[in-house]
Amino acid sequence: MIICLCNALSDRQLADAVEKGAHRPREVYAACNCQAQCGTCTRTILTMIRDGKPASGAGQGALS
Ligand code: FES
Repeated sequence: MIICLCNALSDRQLADAVEKGAHRPREVYAACNCQAQCGTCTRTILTMIRDGKPASGAGQGALS
């Protein structure tokens, strides 16, 4: 499932970045070799960081 439309980042890619130690959205984007664009996905990324797992269906801007 795509979470970040601007950078075409999937929940799996984001979860991998979190699992590898990204603790801030900025670090997650950097781990994916991109940066925030519109910021719509930031809340979902923060949830993933907080919970340490994908926030299925909770993403603003998320597509299935
Ligand atoms: S949806 Fe992620 S920066 Fe726009």
